[in-house]
Amino acid sequence: MRSPVDYDTLLRSLPADFRWGAATAAYQVEGAADEDGKGRSIWDDFSSRAGRTRNGDTGAIAADHYHRYPADAVLMQQHGMNAYRFSIAWTRVQPTGSGAVNAAGLDHYERKIDTLLELGIDPMVTLFHWDLPSALEHDGGWYNRDTAYRFAEYAAIVLGRLGDRVPHWITLNEPWTVVSQGYCRGLHAPGFADYRSAGTAIHHMMLGHGLAVDEFRRIAPAGAQVGITHILSQVTPWSDNESDLAAAQLMDAERNTVYLDPMFKSSYPQVLSNLFPTLFDDAIVRTGDLETISRPIDFIGVNYYLDQLARANPGVPVLGVEIIEPAGPQMVTNTAIRPDGLHASIRRVTQEYTTIPQYITEVGVCLPDYVDPEGRVQDPGRIQYLETCLDGIARANREGSDVRGLYVWSLLDNLEWDQGYLPRFGLFHVDYASQVRTPKSSAKWYADVIRLHGAVSEQ
Ligand code: FCB
Repeated sequence: MRSPVDYDTLLRSLPADFRWGAATAAYQVEGAADEDGKGRSIWDDFSSRAGRTRNGDTGAIAADHYHRYPADAVLMQQHGMNAYRFSIAWTRVQPTGSGAVNAAGLDHYERKIDTLLELGIDPMVTLFHWDLPSALEHDGGWYNRDTAYRFAEYAAIVLGRLGDRVPHWITLNEPWTVVSQGYCRGLHAPGFADYRSAGTAIHHMMLGHGLAVDEFRRIAPAGAQVGITHILSQVTPWSDNESDLAAAQLMDAERNTVYLDPMFKSSYPQVLSNLFPTLFDDAIVRTGDLETISRPIDFIGVNYYLDQLARANPGVPVLGVEIIEPAGPQMVTNTAIRPDGLHASIRRVTQEYTTIPQYITEVGVCLPDYVDPEGRVQDPGRIQYLETCLDGIARANREGSDVRGLYVWSLLDNLEWDQGYLPRFGLFHVDYASQVRTPKSSAKWYADVIRLHGAVSEQ
């Protein structure tokens, strides 16, 4: 860890119009699960099934952001933030994922966007943060090619109404996580544990991205930008044995390159031909699909949480690879705290794939935060984590990358999917019973950094 950080050098490495933000996702914060005509999503279904989430936690109420967004937006403004990344729940706009539009859903997001703009906060809108309409899942979900077309149709509806006032649009959030947790390992909705078919879901999601970019070019006004968010992590071989090198290459493909290659190189990595055979099946990857997927985008969103080690181990089913978390401190979710790897992920994108602008659309850490008797939430670990991330961003920019914004995960404590409400990632603590928000010391630190950056940029 590089500490103490030289803030002056760091902040001078960020552009004057750097986007200082935080991020959330609809299912994790909104609540209001049945309100104003919303349809059911696969996360409503999954979390209501016995044993799928910690203690059966669901997003039915969550942080009640659906009702409390105006006050939450003021909190952001008071802490100097000029950007907010949130997602639209597809099922509020199209309750069954196709056809009829629910006007109340679009009205809600229009009000939310206008509220943010009035406060000087730029919205960055994610169209798909995992809450696929249940009706589409019923017809095969991402296994079904038609879902890609339904996604583009939904994107067109949203862009037609809101495209004129949102500067940054993100098609998909972290297709890797959807596939790995939801299709390969059964830990997330929709709950499949089948590597062999997962390539089909990968391809249809990436096709949906490309088709949505086409809709964006058709509908969005000049000046609005579109991108995608990928979660990236460096995979290091356990040793320099040939088998460990091959293991790391396989895992790197499964995690990173299978999503980056089709977008920037118009191909899927050959090393995955056994793991994800359908990615090499002409009936699935049809003529023209890779051209659609590789349409130029305006920026790339990078989410980063941790790096991992890969060791060949024939005893591990399907993969033959053991994934080893680096030693050291861990989050509440038992994942390693490794903010120092963000820098390498940014540089890799620039050096191997594209020089388009990057936004860090998520970095964050969950810690055992609590409100103390004085009413404070002290989270020095989060400050240190974010400081290391910022340092990595600044260094990457000095080395030639073009990172233009940071969206901390998360604005608020929220539902961490299958892990329920135990992990707290927010800059603001949420007391779920009362819905009271308390700024953690990291929120105050963030406000100070943003203020300092403003002062440095004016000099
Ligand atoms: C990311 C997800 C986000 C949140 C964080 C902790 O993978 O995009 O919704 O759960 O992890």
